[in-house]
Amino acid sequence: MDFPAVRMRRLRRTEALRRMVRETHLRPDHLIQPFFAVPGQNVRKAVSSMPGVFQLSVDQLITEAKKTRDVGVPAVILFGIPDRKDPEGSSSWNEQGIVQKAVRALKKNVPELCVITDVCFCEYTDHGHCGVIHDGEVDNDATLENLARQVISFAEAGADVLAPSGMMDGMVGTIREALDEAEFEHLPILSYAVKFSSAYYGPFREAAESAPAFGDRRAYQMDPANGREALREAALDVSEGADMLMVKPALAYLDLIRDLREHFEHPIAAYNVSGEMAMVEAAAANGWIDRKRVILETLVSMRRAGADVILSYWATEVAGWLK
Ligand code: PBG
Ligand code: ZN
Repeated sequence: MDFPAVRMRRLRRTEALRRMVRETHLRPDHLIQPFFAVPGQNVRKAVSSMPGVFQLSVDQLITEAKKTRDVGVPAVILFGIPDRKDPEGSSSWNEQGIVQKAVRALKKNVPELCVITDVCFCEYTDHGHCGVIHDGEVDNDATLENLARQVISFAEAGADVLAPSGMMDGMVGTIREALDEAEFEHLPILSYAVKFSSAYYGPFREAAESAPAFGDRRAYQMDPANGREALREAALDVSEGADMLMVKPALAYLDLIRDLREHFEHPIAAYNVSGEMAMVEAAAANGWIDRKRVILETLVSMRRAGADVILSYWATEVAGWLK
């Protein structure tokens, strides 16, 4: 059967028909809201390259997190900007660290929210790399030891999910073992399994004050040209005990979200990163695109590719539209 018996337009004629045959849905349940926590009181510092995103002190973070909860977003992910940085990033495993404080306040004041902590060192090291430096390079295995300290500290503060993002080999296994030994065997790991060395992270590094002081991250994050390698990364993290897998960035890597969807049964997260947001916001500010429609189309593309959940700076706003 083909034209004229078949007419694809028949099912597109009205909104009711289109709703019935829509294949992919975006709901508040599918979104995770990132937040940047800073020390102090009453701090709301705008991030210039990410309109609508602020560095927030814990009191302000609670106010924003309540809005996130109220529109039905189930989870937040926290990034911390400490007041003191050192070569190891030791403030990341301090009981009085900024993320630890933020987690405790969130669990106390907005207990319905799932609190995910990003697990890495770039926000905490004075050189801005994602681990300990030896002879000018990030030392993988020395970094693993500190990672275990950091996750235990976040877990003790009350984190619900640990999300390692540093692309160290063995990070998932190390974290699983550390959690299990400390009787946190119930806490899941959301691994940034497939994370590329991407220019799309530019605005985030302003927000998180985490740009590397020398070099770049190409010796640990993936080469944007490699798709098969993404499957190996994901398989390793699965074998080490990852409960969920992330692909990051999302938009330029939709093919890999699909590949992971086809190869694994694990829930998949996509990170709608800062540069993806900045491009849309800049074009919208110029009147060149319809902001709301482009945002929804962008997020639906990630769902259609196979993502279960999407980390997005727009999460709370979008959930408000969808409610
Ligand atoms: C660092 C980290 C990065 C992002 C999340 N965690 C960037 C980086 O590798 O420098 C990027 C998020 C974004 O761009 O929105 N471990
Ligand atoms: Zn990092």
